[in-house]
Amino acid sequence: MTEIRDYRDTDAATWLRCRLLSFFGTEYYDDVVTQRPVFDNPAHRLVAVDNDTVIGLIDVEIFPDRATIDVLAIHPDHQRHGLATRLLEAVLPRLQGDVLDAWTRGDAPANDWYQRSGFTENYRYLHVYKSSQDDAAGFEAPGQLVTAFMHAPISEEASMRERFSRVHVCRQYVRRL
Ligand SMILES: CC(C)(COP(=O)(O)OP(=O)(O)OC[C@H]1O[C@@H](n2cnc3c(N)ncnc32)[C@H](O)[C@@H]1OP(=O)(O)O)[C@@H](O)C(=O)NCCC(=O)NCCS
Repeated sequence: MTEIRDYRDTDAATWLRCRLLSFFGTEYYDDVVTQRPVFDNPAHRLVAVDNDTVIGLIDVEIFPDRATIDVLAIHPDHQRHGLATRLLEAVLPRLQGDVLDAWTRGDAPANDWYQRSGFTENYRYLHVYKSSQDDAAGFEAPGQLVTAFMHAPISEEASMRERFSRVHVCRQYVRRL
């Protein structure tokens, strides 16, 4: 039986493993954390736990003007069984502002999930990675610039894709509370 409850310090190891494995097959595959992030603001941190093992997690950070889903991840062996929906339903009654938002790239599971969960797309922009194979013209650095991560406006999508091999569309989803 899977329990939804607050995160505990004793969850640390399986929380990290769940986060790592959940994003492995996504456009965030290299967004790896080796320590649980610490928030500057208050946050609601819930987990789905099976036999003392974290198989799903949600962190929602509370800002003065909104709440933001910092991370939502379900272990690949446990996806599509309603766990992300249960985590959202558990956190929603705790939120007091007007708006809950989230940011995600192009993965169909995430985009489908936000849209079916009452979120609508509000804004999109680009995440662009320059690798050592990509053109370095226009960049300035003290030495040779090998890699870079950049934000760019969505209006630049065609030219960014022509020039760089790794470009992600990042979308903001918003749900009114
Ligand atoms: C997105 C994610 C959190 C959904 O979790 P989940 O527990 O599988 O979702 P639920 O079971 O609550 O909801 C299922 C719905 O999500 C969407 N979904 C989930 N997996 C999907 C897939 N492989 N393909 C398409 N849609 C999918 C569908 O809308 C699905 O409804 P359906 O089964 O009726 O078609 C999960 O796939 C995940 O952890 N992905 C990797 C991490 C990630 O992308 N996090 C969110 C963005 S930061």
